[in-house]
Amino acid sequence: MMEGKALLSVRDLTKTFGGLMAVNCVSFDIEKGTITALIGPNGAGKTTVINIISGLLRATGGKVVFKGRDITNLPPYRISHLGIARTFQNIRVFPQMTVLENMLVATKYRKGETLLYSVIPDRDVKVEDEQNLKKALHYLEFVGLMDKKDEFAGNLSHGQRRLLELARALATDADLLLLDEPTAGVTPRTRKKLLQLFTRLKNSGKTIMIIEHNMKVVRAVSDRVIVLSNGQKIFDGPPDKAFKDSRVIEAYLGTKWRYM
Ligand SMILES: Nc1ncnc2c1ncn2[C@@H]1O[C@H](COP(=O)(O)OP(=O)(O)OP(=O)(O)O)[C@@H](O)[C@H]1O
Ligand SMILES: [Mg+2]
Repeated sequence: MMEGKALLSVRDLTKTFGGLMAVNCVSFDIEKGTITALIGPNGAGKTTVINIISGLLRATGGKVVFKGRDITNLPPYRISHLGIARTFQNIRVFPQMTVLENMLVATKYRKGETLLYSVIPDRDVKVEDEQNLKKALHYLEFVGLMDKKDEFAGNLSHGQRRLLELARALATDADLLLLDEPTAGVTPRTRKKLLQLFTRLKNSGKTIMIIEHNMKVVRAVSDRVIVLSNGQKIFDGPPDKAFKDSRVIEAYLGTKWRYM
C-alpha cells in the first residue's frame, strides 16, 4: 500500500446507522510506538471508529489496513489474532470469575480454536497453558493486581476493573491497543498509575490509540491528537496545537469541556 510504513491506516472510513452518518469519510495513519488520542464531543463517532477497526461493527465504506494487510470487516477474533486488542467504554470483565481466570480467558482466545486443540498432543497443550499462566501473571504484576489474582473480579473497585481490562488486552500480545475511555471514572491516583502504564507500554514498543475526555490526560500522554466532530475528522496534529485550533474549540463550545 502507498503509506507503507504506518502500522494502521484508516481510509475514508464511513458508517451510517439508518439516516445517521456516525463516521463520515475519516482517514488517518497510526505509526508504531506512538500514542494517539482520539477525542471529540459525545456522539462524535469515536467508539464507532474503534468498533469498526476491531471488527465489532461493519464499515459502510472505506477500509482499514493493519501491518499492510486489509482487515476491513474481518471477524473480531481474526483481528485479535493479527495483533489488535481493545478495551470497552463500559467495562466488560466477568464478575463471577477470579481476576486470574479473567486473564486466562484472554490468553486462551489468542490461540483459540478448540478444533486445533484436539490435534495438538497433550504435552504441548500443557506447555501452552503454562506459558499462558506465566503471561497472565506477568501482566497482573505489570498493572499492580497480583495481590488480587484470586479475588472475584466482581469484588474489584472500578479502577481495579479498568486495570484488569488493560491487563487482559495486553495478555493477547497485541501490538496495537485501542482503549475506549480507559481512565473514565477512576480516582486521580489510579489515573496517574494508568498514565505511567501507557508511557511504559509505549516505551516498550506498543502502539496505543486512546479515546479520552480528560484533556489533562490527553496532554500528558499523547504524541498526537485526532479530533472528531459529527463523524468528521476536524483536526489531526500535536496536542498543544489541538487545544488552540478554532474548529476544535468551536466543536466543543457549549459542551462540558472542563479540562481545557
Ligand atoms: N449501534 C448503533 N445504532 C445506532 N446508532 C448508533 C449506534 N452506535 C452509535 N450510534 C450513534 O452514532 C453516533 C456516534 O456514536 P459513538 O458511540 O461512536 O460516539 P462517541 O464519540 O463514542 O461518543 P461518547 O463520547 O458519548 O462515547 C451517535 O449519534 C450514536 O448515537
Ligand atoms: Mg464512545
